[in-house]
Amino acid sequence: MIGAVLLLLPLGLVQGGGRCVLNRTEERCVCRRLAEDSVDSIVQCLPASVVEFWGGDLQRYAALPIGDLQPSAIDMLESLSIRKLVFGDLLVPEELLARVLKFFSYTQVQELVFESCAFVGSSDWADMDGQDLPVRTLRLHNVTSAPLTGREQGFSSLRRWLGSLQELVLTRSRLSALPCAVGRLFSTLRSLDLAHNGLADSGLAAAFCQGAFPRLRALSLQSNHLLSFHGVCQSLQLLPELQQLDISRNNLTAGLASSCQWQMSLRSLNLSDTGLDEVLTPLPPNLEVLDMSCNHLRTLDISLGSLKMLLLSQNMLQDVSFLRNCPMLEVLYLDDNLISELPWDELQLLQHLRDVAAAGNPYNCSCSGAGGIQRLAATGHLGPAWPRDYVCHSPPRYQRVLVKDVSVSVLQCNSAAVIAPICVLLAVLCVAGAVCLARAKHRLPQACRRAAKGA
Ligand SMILES: *[C@@H]1O[C@H](CO)[C@@H](O)[C@H](O)[C@H]1NC(C)=O
Ligand SMILES: *[C@@H]1O[C@H](CO)[C@@H](O)[C@H](O)[C@H]1NC(C)=O
Ligand SMILES: *[C@@H]1O[C@H](CO)[C@@H](O)[C@H](O)[C@H]1NC(C)=O
Ligand SMILES: *[C@@H]1O[C@H](CO)[C@@H](O)[C@H](O)[C@H]1NC(C)=O
Ligand SMILES: *[C@@H]1O[C@H](CO)[C@@H](O)[C@H](O)[C@H]1NC(C)=O
Repeated sequence: MIGAVLLLLPLGLVQGGGRCVLNRTEERCVCRRLAEDSVDSIVQCLPASVVEFWGGDLQRYAALPIGDLQPSAIDMLESLSIRKLVFGDLLVPEELLARVLKFFSYTQVQELVFESCAFVGSSDWADMDGQDLPVRTLRLHNVTSAPLTGREQGFSSLRRWLGSLQELVLTRSRLSALPCAVGRLFSTLRSLDLAHNGLADSGLAAAFCQGAFPRLRALSLQSNHLLSFHGVCQSLQLLPELQQLDISRNNLTAGLASSCQWQMSLRSLNLSDTGLDEVLTPLPPNLEVLDMSCNHLRTLDISLGSLKMLLLSQNMLQDVSFLRNCPMLEVLYLDDNLISELPWDELQLLQHLRDVAAAGNPYNCSCSGAGGIQRLAATGHLGPAWPRDYVCHSPPRYQRVLVKDVSVSVLQCNSAAVIAPICVLLAVLCVAGAVCLARAKHRLPQACRRAAKGA
């Protein structure tokens, strides 16, 4: 018990009148503005697997002497079931963190989160030299700290731990540069989320230098200051295992035709809301997921033989002729475009299609137009907006009618199909009649009646 309090106290103890509340169903314990006189309430957090500390200032503990732990304290830490620790709205002296972090090696904490925290001062992290921690996921959201540049040497004391980290989230923290040497410490990192920062094209190349993040599979650069698709391709060339890339919400330009080839490992690319008015080339050849929603695309010239998911909602596309180049499609979103027709003979070829959304388009409900969508709906693969948001814009007599309600009976839509058999029938009757007349003259009335009936 004392051990737990020892560990949590310098991190969680802050002035105020707060206390900890445990939710047993969620196994989650939330402490707000913990005060010295209510610190006992930390004890009720002991059975929790998630413990959160919100609010306060740890600065007055920065100089607290923290020696080695007693064996009983270590036993206690080892018996804790805490898997995730969250620190929010706190001022965290880096010096204090550097000294306390090593005690995490006695716990089973796998995920460490700092949200809306300010790291103050700086440390050489010497206490962490050669120290491994069970923490595999580190999340930092809306944090501030002294710039990373120039502190590479200090961070190298964290090499052992950072080298075992699997997932790093560093979002909304005004990051504009990530030194090359820092990236090299994350030698087994699989997933890196740098969304909502200030990374520009130039900073990107430096961050992903030779040897940085060598095992990275998923990278998000959503909402940064990237401008060049070609530049991003060039900067990420040294990530040999990259599978998922999110560069949505940047203002990208196609630039000049580029010779940069994406790595073959890339399976998923998110280009949504990037201001595109044409498709950027070249696209990674083995893509399975491509999101180009919320752009200004009018036409789409792609040919991606492995593509399974294509998201194109909120563009200005007028037709779907590109579908014939994506035979493996399973998921297709086309909501809010300018598409007037979804031809059944194109859709029919997509044998793996299982999820389609195409609401909010100005459909032409002439027979073939409405028919294609109705047949698609009949397969059961059309999303929840069917039939409500599938509305005809033309021809005039169907304006604002639901596509579902357009009659595509054979008689109305394919008069040739009905009229031709009727003509044939009439012709046969005429012939039969003529034969009858002829036969009557030869006095063979009975046979004649039978022939007429047969026709
Ligand atoms: C615990 O969390 C569950 C699920 O979020 C919630 O329904 C319940 O009301 C919480 N219990 C308490 C005592 O807050
Ligand atoms: C970000 O953190 C600061 C404190 O560092 C806080 O004042 C602010 O409200 C936070 N912003 C958001 C969006 O959470
Ligand atoms: C992208 O461009 C739009 C309009 O051109 C602008 O409003 C927005 O701030 C830009 N975003 C970034 C991240 O530069
Ligand atoms: C692409 O990014 C946007 C946010 O910019 C997100 O809403 C969307 O879900 C992402 N697409 C995929 C396929 O993950
Ligand atoms: C609607 O489709 C019909 C038949 O394909 C065509 O004749 C007509 O011009 C189309 N109308 C519009 C407004 O595109």
